[in-house]
Amino acid sequence: MEEFITLSMQLHLLFVILLVVLIIINLYLLKSDSVFIKLSRKLELIAPQYYIVLSAIFFTGIIVMAVKKFAFSLSVWMMILVWLFILVKGIKKHKIYKKMEKRDENSQVDYKKLAIKKYTIDAILIIVTIIFTYGVH
Ligand code: HEM
Repeated sequence: MEEFITLSMQLHLLFVILLVVLIIINLYLLKSDSVFIKLSRKLELIAPQYYIVLSAIFFTGIIVMAVKKFAFSLSVWMMILVWLFILVKGIKKHKIYKKMEKRDENSQVDYKKLAIKKYTIDAILIIVTIIFTYGVH
C-alpha cells in the first residue's frame, strides 16, 4: 500500500512538472517572432497535450485522495481551485481563438498578449501551489 501511495504521488507530481514544461514551450513559441499562421499551427499541435496532462493531474490527484480516504487539506482545496481556474480560463481562451480574425494583425497581437498572460498566470499559480503544499507539510 505504501508503495502504491508513493507511486501515485510521484505520478501526480510528474504530470505537474510536465504541465510546467508545456507552459514553457507555449511561452517560448508565443514570444518567438514567427508568422502567426505558422505559430498557430504549432500551438494547435500542443493544445491537446495540455488538456491531456491536466486530466492526468486530476486523475492521479483523485487516486491520491482516495488512498488518503478523501481527507481535504487546505493545500488540496487550493490544488482543485487552481486546476479548475486553469481549465476554465483555457476553455475561454480557446473560444476567443476560434472566433478571432486570424489574418488581422491587431487580433493576432491581442491574442498573443492574452495567451502569454494566461500561461504566465498558470505558471505562477502552479509554482505558488507547489510552494504552499510543501510549506504546509
Ligand atoms: C495544477 C494543479 C495541481 C498542482 C500544482 C498539484 C501539486 C501537488 C503537489 C506538489 C503535491 C505534493 C506531492 C508530493 O508530496 O510528492 C500534491 C499532492 C496531492 N494532490 Fe495535487 N496538484 C494539483 C491538482 C490536484 C487535484 C486536481 C487534485 C484532486 C483532484 C489533487 C490532489 C492531491 C492530493 C490528495 C495530494 C496529497 C496531499 C497530501 O499529502 O496531503 N491535486 N499535489
